[in-house]
Amino acid sequence: MAVLEHKALAYELAFLESHPTPPMKGRHAPPLKAWSGRFQRPTDSLVERFCSSLPFDRRLFEEDIAASIAHCRMLAKQKIISQKDARQIIHGLQIVRQEFRAGTFVAQPTDEDIHMAVERRLYELTGPVAGKLHTARSRNDQIATDLRLFIRRHIAEVDRRLCNLQKALAAAARRELDTVAPGFTHLQPAQPILLSHHLLAYVAMLERDRHRLADQLPRVNILSLGSGALAGTTFPIDRHYVAKLLKFSGISTNSLDAVSDRDFIVEFLAALALIGIHLSRFCEDLILWCSPLFSFVELPEEFATGSSMMPQKKNPDVAELIRGKSGRLVGNLVSLLVTLKALPMAYNRDLQEDKEPLFDSVDAVEASLDVIAPLVRQLRFHRERLREAASMGFTLATELADYLASKGIPFREAHEIVGRIVRYCVERNRRLEELNLSELRKFSPEFDDRVHSWLDPLAAVQRRGAPGGTSRENVIAQLRALNLSTRSEE
Ligand code: ARG
Repeated sequence: MAVLEHKALAYELAFLESHPTPPMKGRHAPPLKAWSGRFQRPTDSLVERFCSSLPFDRRLFEEDIAASIAHCRMLAKQKIISQKDARQIIHGLQIVRQEFRAGTFVAQPTDEDIHMAVERRLYELTGPVAGKLHTARSRNDQIATDLRLFIRRHIAEVDRRLCNLQKALAAAARRELDTVAPGFTHLQPAQPILLSHHLLAYVAMLERDRHRLADQLPRVNILSLGSGALAGTTFPIDRHYVAKLLKFSGISTNSLDAVSDRDFIVEFLAALALIGIHLSRFCEDLILWCSPLFSFVELPEEFATGSSMMPQKKNPDVAELIRGKSGRLVGNLVSLLVTLKALPMAYNRDLQEDKEPLFDSVDAVEASLDVIAPLVRQLRFHRERLREAASMGFTLATELADYLASKGIPFREAHEIVGRIVRYCVERNRRLEELNLSELRKFSPEFDDRVHSWLDPLAAVQRRGAPGGTSRENVIAQLRALNLSTRSEE
């Protein structure tokens, strides 16, 4: 994706080079408001502040200006405005972009949103020719376009970060191929597994997240510009040309839908929420594992925090914060869904409320992924402790039942027999592995001297050789099947 955007930029610059810039005129005072003609009295400053989206939508300046440049080039190609005017406008837009990039752009209270802010500044720089840029477009199709460009870029950004975390988890899985660990259900000791298998479960979850993002890209990558305020435009525009310039794969087919559709944001927020839920599960595991009561893993000191009161503490705040962010991520999705519910056709200002949840979720997920990947890279697992824990809590009971079942005893009956053996052990504070053959035979004459080879955690792991199970061969096959390249590398 980054490569594509680079190409788009190179294309813009080549266009500018072949069209020498006319000298800049002096400063111009733009009309106070784009829509002031209809009004006699000025807007109350309270209303100005309340309605303005610039404090948050200013981060769309790259997208907004890129879309404006493409629109302007199209207007010139279609002879809707002159080449000369287009050159002046594009040069002005580049200066505005530079000001945003350098952080020197000065917002005015009258700037209702990013679109008006850019246009106001363009007018100051170029004079009345700036007013031609808005020919055959509306802020309604503009904002939809900006948002699509923004999400397209962040689909690639999030994908890259997911891939990076997958790589960190896969590297740990490769290192821990010999580490037997306890597997849980209901957070109760269940059966021994390979630690690698557990880590790769997260890689599989993240893989679905990446597919989900890739799946939505074709629905995001559609040009809305050219839909006007709601009904289309009377000007002979070339929407396919604009789509080509902005690397959209197609154009919207219904102007009413195009200006009011925010499904693509809902889908993106849903994907981000699910990533957050997945990360919260992984973080929960980390939080448990690094508790001294578990002692399965050592957090790197660089990624842990202390307590101001209790000197002994080494807290997993990073994992807790990521787990906590899942609440916001789900909230942001619900917030947009409720905003959209029962909105009349077509654009309504309610839609301005789509941005803050979107930005918040993007920031939360990208920041979480940025911090968790290096943390994973530095985790140190306590292999001995994991191995020891792998057979605690009678995790080998299923082996014993499988053993009897392999001798022809119906599994249900075998389960019942082993249940009684476990109770026998609980009452005497013994472990299954410690029982000698004569003790075992009191429960079933089917036990023979090979039974103890079944009561080994590693043997239990290795017996789970059916595809998808935790045997070493299966785990290695999972690692081999991974194709950890980012979408843009493919
Ligand atoms: N700031 C607006 C938004 O985010 C842009 C579109 C405004 N359109 C309008 N007709 N006022 O939705």
